[in-house]
Amino acid sequence: MIATFQGVREKRTLFFSSPTLISELLERAGTGLAFPCLKQGKCGKCKVRVSGKTSPVTGQEKDLLTDAELEKGVRLACCTFANGNILINYTIPENYFQEFKQKLLKFSEEFDNNNVYNIIYDVGTTTIEVCAVAKNNGNKQYFSFTNPQIAFGSDVMSRLKYAKDHSLEELRRCVHEPFELIKKTLKPEKCVVTGNTVMLHFFEGKDSSGMLDYPFTPSDRFGYEKGGIYFPHCVSAFVGADVSCGILKSELIQNENALLIDIGTNCEMAYCKDGAIYCCSVAAGPAFEGFSTSRGETAKDGSIVRVYLDNGKICSDTLGGGKPSGITGSGIVDLVSVLLKTGVLKKDGYLKDNFFIPGTEVFITPDDVRQIQLAKASVRAGIGTICKDNSVSKVFIAGNFGNALNIQSCVDIGLFPESFLGKTEFIGNSSIDGGKLLLEDENRKKLGELIKKCKLVELAGNNEFAKKYIENIDF
Ligand code: FES
Repeated sequence: MIATFQGVREKRTLFFSSPTLISELLERAGTGLAFPCLKQGKCGKCKVRVSGKTSPVTGQEKDLLTDAELEKGVRLACCTFANGNILINYTIPENYFQEFKQKLLKFSEEFDNNNVYNIIYDVGTTTIEVCAVAKNNGNKQYFSFTNPQIAFGSDVMSRLKYAKDHSLEELRRCVHEPFELIKKTLKPEKCVVTGNTVMLHFFEGKDSSGMLDYPFTPSDRFGYEKGGIYFPHCVSAFVGADVSCGILKSELIQNENALLIDIGTNCEMAYCKDGAIYCCSVAAGPAFEGFSTSRGETAKDGSIVRVYLDNGKICSDTLGGGKPSGITGSGIVDLVSVLLKTGVLKKDGYLKDNFFIPGTEVFITPDDVRQIQLAKASVRAGIGTICKDNSVSKVFIAGNFGNALNIQSCVDIGLFPESFLGKTEFIGNSSIDGGKLLLEDENRKKLGELIKKCKLVELAGNNEFAKKYIENIDF
């Protein structure tokens, strides 16, 4: 059965095999829709408009929805099962900020009112992460939530288009209002707002239209403090403040021939050679982040995070050990590696049919394989263009996807060259960690100097990149 999700501008699809609550499908699809009463059918806030095969209207829905809404196909996502192919229309719920406030309140209850905090607000394309650092003892508390802009498209290009054709203000509000609420609640002394270049433009409501087409020119490269908020430098439209924070945090410049790589929807790289830092960015799509593949999901209880061979048998590990609900980005890299080893998947990417992971209802389709194939070809071609594979002395892997990766599986599927084995180091969310360093003036100056050493390696129209991309399409 297929569920199709229609956001404000973007359509996505998911496969499911048995009657499933629409709220669960929305979560799997990473829509960011909120469920304020924890899916108890009490608040009436999880309204979606559906057409297709659904379970009958419940008593709770009759109480909370008007007749006119029911006639239009409006249902409560937490009360309605999808029993067959279904189209689900969703938008950012009006209650989003109300729900966010409740989450924030819970977060702030754990704070010591006698302490002063500094805030790092990392605006990722998919997730916004907040780190509060206590000034007196350096204790850190973290808090994250889905970037509500996801309703306008899962990638930055769809959102840039929406900003140009419709409303930059709507996108600004999505990332700015939560920040204002955090500021009001925690009253921080200093704030650093980091993230990719596009997100910083949206946060500040700056003209982002120049980044939609070649030569992809941002209207600002930041690297200054404004209104008590420090915005780290961006190198280019697609090498943003998150990368410059990573360059600072990893001390890349101290490591000749070291590569920093942050794999997300966009994969950014920085390579240190002869005192310069060469930077580039490739589009990898959301497959590695657990979105967009048929059963892909971000890590949560029930997610398959690891797939491996044991005595020739395909086995998997699930977070929390419960019934598997989907597979994370790292799990899917393992799965592709195992399918290649067993010959189920051919080197050229041919997979005859959907493949179910034994003992589960989680599967991979030939289309999913294609997405992984194209994403890994992009990343590998980027690596090959920015540095010679064998010359790399050290590889810093940043980002949440990085932490869970099995490097051998990455080599097996051709995402990384074999020469990376034994040289990798996971450095976690270097955007947040670099942001923390930027609470200090001294580090802001240091970053300013590092940025002068950065050289952008342009990949659009780059023949070497195009050649390597084609070479790396096969596994
Ligand atoms: S989340 Fe409250 S009614 Fe669905």
